[in-house]
Amino acid sequence: MIHKVHISLEPKPRSYDVLIGEGALRVAAAQIASLCRRKVLLVVTDETVAGLHLAALETQMATQNVKIRALILPPGEATKSFGQLEKVCDFLLEQEMERGDCLAAFGGGVVGDLAGLASALVKRGTGFIQIPTTLLAQVDSSVGGKTAINTRFGKNMIGAFHQPKLVVADLGFLQTLEARQWRAGYAEIIKMACLSDERFFSWLEQAGPNLLQGSSENLDEAIFRSVQGKAKIVAKDELEHEVRALLNLGHTFGHALEAEAPGQILHGEAVAAGIGAAFSLSVDLGLCPSAARERVLAHLRAMGLPASLGEAPGGPYTPSALVLRMQSDKKNQNGNIHLILCRNIGDAFVTSKVSSSELLHFMEKELV
Ligand SMILES: NC(=O)c1ccc[n+]([C@@H]2O[C@H](COP(=O)([O-])OP(=O)(O)OC[C@H]3O[C@@H](n4cnc5c(N)ncnc54)[C@H](O)[C@@H]3O)[C@@H](O)[C@H]2O)c1
Ligand SMILES: [Zn+2]
Repeated sequence: MIHKVHISLEPKPRSYDVLIGEGALRVAAAQIASLCRRKVLLVVTDETVAGLHLAALETQMATQNVKIRALILPPGEATKSFGQLEKVCDFLLEQEMERGDCLAAFGGGVVGDLAGLASALVKRGTGFIQIPTTLLAQVDSSVGGKTAINTRFGKNMIGAFHQPKLVVADLGFLQTLEARQWRAGYAEIIKMACLSDERFFSWLEQAGPNLLQGSSENLDEAIFRSVQGKAKIVAKDELEHEVRALLNLGHTFGHALEAEAPGQILHGEAVAAGIGAAFSLSVDLGLCPSAARERVLAHLRAMGLPASLGEAPGGPYTPSALVLRMQSDKKNQNGNIHLILCRNIGDAFVTSKVSSSELLHFMEKELV
């Protein structure tokens, strides 16, 4: 069965669908073809995904007489760079991409964020679709139109909002994903439940361990519910003026970890440790019952994820260095660190009331 989530945006023609399920690509092939003016689909992907799955994409699109022209980049977070952005833009210009043409970001969040940004920039905006192949990209990064690259000043510092025209999340691609990558993607599912949906979190406590063992029936339900949750938030606040900021639960801590240990910690692992930290800080500040924190930490650990800054791979981390990184986060305003904290599971809120010294004190405790 293929689930469909509609991402509703104003003005309406910018709205689009997310198709989720095993075989979603086959179901979507005709729709993708209809977006390709010249019967050519330009594809940006990485070496790993190209090796495993590009032939399948070619086969599906051949059924619609659509040819693939692919740019294959090195895998990994370092690919979200100015250098690779230039390569993608050059590729699109060489291929004479026009507004009516279609680019597919075929890969994980790295390919999606980079190709999406190139698509926003080339000729001031061309059409693109997302065909996410990691769990993280299927539940989170392919939906909602945030695109970005990293710079030496931090993660996602150069970016744009640019919505895709279609997202095709085919569960079949996930079968080749490494276990560590799989768990990292699951962290964004936990995030979604923690920030707005306690019932979803309870369901995950039951279903999560089966998902680790590859139960695809529950997996498409988990992806579907995550995307539904994100769709509601993006429809309310596409450009992150208010409620969309909640999707950054765990990310201010997480981005600091990623910046301190590039290449040693995955985005989802950093987010997991950050969610644990957000709950622990909320409890320390007397804002959240400790039973809620215990449930969240227990589920993170049950799924093989770090549940605190001290458990995050890539350490040891220095408290003051992390606080410094958090002070340069792009969500901050007037020098105040913006944090997402929780009153309970499913009840997140934004605050700028935690001072740097309180944060430092908390970090020192977390990182002993
Ligand atoms: N735009 C957003 O809203 C948003 C949201 C969350 C995360 N992100 C970004 O997403 C990025 C992380 O995404 P990611 O975890 O998908 O990382 P990724 O794109 O680096 O993919 C992880 C690894 O898995 C490999 N891979 C991809 N698909 C595979 C498959 N089907 N089988 C086997 N291997 C496969 C890739 O080659 C890569 O080595 C970060 O840069 C993060 O900032 C963006
Ligand atoms: Zn994330």
